[in-house]
Amino acid sequence: MDKLVIQGGNKLYGSVTIGGAKNAVVALLPATLLSRDVVVLENVPAIRDVRIMLGIMGQLGAQIKMLDKTTYQIDTRHIGYQVVPNDVAKRLRASYYLIGAMLGTFGKAEVSLPGGCDFGVRPINLHLKGFKSLGADVDVANGMVKASTEGGLTGSSIYMDEVSVGATINVMLAAVKAHGLTIIENAAREPHIVDLANFLNRMGANVRGAGTDVIKIKGVEELHGCQYSVIPDQIEAGTYMAAVAAAGGDVTIKNVTPKHLESIIAKLAECGVDIEEGDDEVRVRRFGELTHCNVKTMPHPGFPTDMQPQIVALLSLASGTSIVNESVWESRFRYVNQLTKLGANINVEGSKMAVIQGVEKLRGACVNATDLRAGAAMIIAGLAAEGETEIEDIYHIERGYEDVVEKFRAIGADMQKRYYPDEDELELHA
Ligand code: EPZ
Repeated sequence: MDKLVIQGGNKLYGSVTIGGAKNAVVALLPATLLSRDVVVLENVPAIRDVRIMLGIMGQLGAQIKMLDKTTYQIDTRHIGYQVVPNDVAKRLRASYYLIGAMLGTFGKAEVSLPGGCDFGVRPINLHLKGFKSLGADVDVANGMVKASTEGGLTGSSIYMDEVSVGATINVMLAAVKAHGLTIIENAAREPHIVDLANFLNRMGANVRGAGTDVIKIKGVEELHGCQYSVIPDQIEAGTYMAAVAAAGGDVTIKNVTPKHLESIIAKLAECGVDIEEGDDEVRVRRFGELTHCNVKTMPHPGFPTDMQPQIVALLSLASGTSIVNESVWESRFRYVNQLTKLGANINVEGSKMAVIQGVEKLRGACVNATDLRAGAAMIIAGLAAEGETEIEDIYHIERGYEDVVEKFRAIGADMQKRYYPDEDELELHA
C-alpha cells in the first residue's frame, strides 16, 4: 500500500503550475464521441480519472494517441456501441456522462450507475428527467441505466429542481444533436460547464448562455473534430493556495484563471492571507496570524463545496471560532474525525455544519484520505503540523491531483510517497 509521509513545519516558497481541470476534462472526453471525428485535447491533467475515462473510450473503439504529457489525439470515427458495465463505470463518478454522450451519438446508452466520492446519497433523478424530457425512453434496473430513442431526440425545456453540475452537463451532451431547441433552466454555472459549452461549440454545436442559469441549445445535424485546451483546475489551484496559507510562506500559483478563484481568494483574504492577482497567476503569502472566518458552500459563483475540506483544515489553525456550512452535499464532513487525530478541535452539528475552534498547533499522526478532497485536507493539515504525518488510501488523492508529491516538494514541502506492503503482501518467513 502506498502512503504519503510528511514532515510538517516547512514554510512553502517558489511557484507551482496548475494542470487542466478534472471536472472539465471528464466531461470533454466523453463529448468527443459526439464528433465521430478527430479531436486534439491540450492541457489534459495527468490524473487517474483521466486514465480511467480514456480506457473506457478505448473500449468503445476510440483510437487514442498521447502526443505529449498533457496532449491527446482522440479519433472517434470508428467507435461502436457497447454497454458500459459496473466494474468499469463504478471507478469514477463521471462515467455517467457516457449516457448523455452515447444517447446523443448512437441514440441509445446502457451504463452502470456511477461510483465517485461517498458523501451520502448522490441521486441522478435530474439526469434521467432531462433525458426523458428530450424524448428518450429511460429505465433503471439491476444497477444499469438504459436510455434509448427511435428517430432521435427532440429539444425541450427542462427545469432543474436542484442546481446540478452533472445533470446540466449530461443534458447538454444529449441535446447538442437533438431536433430543435433545448432550454435548461436553473442550470449549473461552474467554470467546467462553460468549458464544455465552448468545446461543444468548437466542434460545431450551438450552445448559448453557459455560465448563466439558462442554457439554450439549438440541435445541429453533425459535429466535427477540433483542437481545444482544457481550462485550469480551480480546485487544484485553491488547494495549493490553502496549503500555503496553512504552512505559511510565499508561493506563486501559475496557469490559473483568477476569475474562477474569486470566492476562494475572498475567503483566504478574510483569514489574513495576502493574495496578489496576475493575468494567469496568483501570488499567495502568509506570515502573520490566521484569523477565523465563516464559510457557506454554494454552487458557483459561491464558495465551492470541493474546497470545503481544505478550508476546514486551514481554519483548524485560525484563531477564534469558525463556522462552515455545507449546503451542497448531505454529509461531507466524514473526514473531520481524521483531522481531530491531528489535534484539530471541530464539532460537526447535524451533518451540514462544522464549528471549528482554532488551535495553536496540530501534531503529526497517521490518518486516512477518506475521499479526494478529504485527502487534500490531510495534506494541508500535515504540512502545518508538528512532526510526521502519514496519509493512507492516497489513491483517492491521485484521482484528481497530478504529480502531487513532485509539485509540493518543488515548493519546499518535506513529503514523500512510501510503499508499505500490507498484510497479505507480507511474506511471513517462519
Ligand atoms: C460534481 O458532482 C463534481 N464531480 C463534484 O466534485 C462536486 O462536488 C459537485 O459537482 C458540485 O460542484 C464531477 O464533476 C465529476 P451535482 P455531481 O449534480 O455532478 C443533487 C470533486 O471533488 N442532485 O452538482 O455529482 C446532489 O445530491 C467532486 O471533484 C440531485 O438531487 O454533483 C447534490 O446535493 C466531488 N439529483 C446537488 O444536487 C441529481 O440528479 C449537487 O450535485 C443530481 C444531483
